[in-house]
Amino acid sequence: MIAQLALALVCLVAAWMPFLCLSPLKGWSWSRTLCSWRLKFPTLSFSSHKHREISSESVSRPWLTATTFGGQCCTHAHHEQECSELNEDDLKVLASHIDETDGSPPWKLMMEHSTPTLTYQAWYRDPPLGPTQYRTRTVFENVSPELLRNFFWDDEFRPQWDNTLIHFKTLRVCPQTGSMTVHWIRKLPLFCSDREYVITRRIWESASGYYCLSKGTPYPPIPRSKRPRRVDNYYSSWHIKSVKPRNGEQHKMASEVLLFHHEDIGLPREVVKMGVRAGMWSLVKRLHLGLQIYQMAKENDGSPSNYALMANITTKIKN
Ligand SMILES: *[C@@H]1O[C@H](CO)[C@@H](O)[C@H](O)[C@H]1NC(C)=O
Repeated sequence: MIAQLALALVCLVAAWMPFLCLSPLKGWSWSRTLCSWRLKFPTLSFSSHKHREISSESVSRPWLTATTFGGQCCTHAHHEQECSELNEDDLKVLASHIDETDGSPPWKLMMEHSTPTLTYQAWYRDPPLGPTQYRTRTVFENVSPELLRNFFWDDEFRPQWDNTLIHFKTLRVCPQTGSMTVHWIRKLPLFCSDREYVITRRIWESASGYYCLSKGTPYPPIPRSKRPRRVDNYYSSWHIKSVKPRNGEQHKMASEVLLFHHEDIGLPREVVKMGVRAGMWSLVKRLHLGLQIYQMAKENDGSPSNYALMANITTKIKN
């Protein structure tokens, strides 16, 4: 009898396992109640975003500071060929997503939400192979494209709003193109093991805004291990542009971020999708609060972070 009960319990836990692992992208609000994570949103504070001394010399030569982010030093020499990991072909792929000329199945609307200073829409589609793809459109009122660009690049600030990010390190930077390779480890709730990413990213700029490319990349110096499990298939790229503010107020501004995202975290599509449905809007609100705090911090402290200096190195393209 007891053995049967125990067996039933194990099955129940096993059946629920996938549902407790629903954190493909970020942390869900309900999952935070299930496990106490390292970083809670209420811990947001200005002091945790360290004031950095940046001399005029390092501003004019971002390369010097970029190698020592957060006291972590790059493990790699910087060769020319390392600078070409993301190229115009990647840019064309992002452009084809934006223009909807990528020939993939049509997007299905997943959710629409708004607050007085935020508009959010999310779509998904399931390609014949691979993980579910997401497209989101977010309009931030009173925020400049440059602030958003820097905010999304700033791994040091990111844990303030993204409580799944438990480790980040800059592995290499390319001072010519501004491209960076970073190492991330994310925590998933409960029994799920952590996920590891090696991501290369780079920004292009045109009159219509910023094209921010970010994609999983092979990186032999960090061999894959069983735990944390490496997520190879990772693609997250977005376009940031200035748009008309919602109420048409002349002295105000607004910025739109169009994001295309997919990643294969090794869980069934439908399970992941359920998690996204359940948790995405609360995550976006956290992101927005983080952005507002970032914005205030920048207004009080004019010196740009190392990440902002890197984000400012873009490749200019014609429209
Ligand atoms: C950003 O780059 C532009 C040139 O593209 C330069 O004029 C500006 O000073 C840079 N800003 C910072 C903070 O480095």
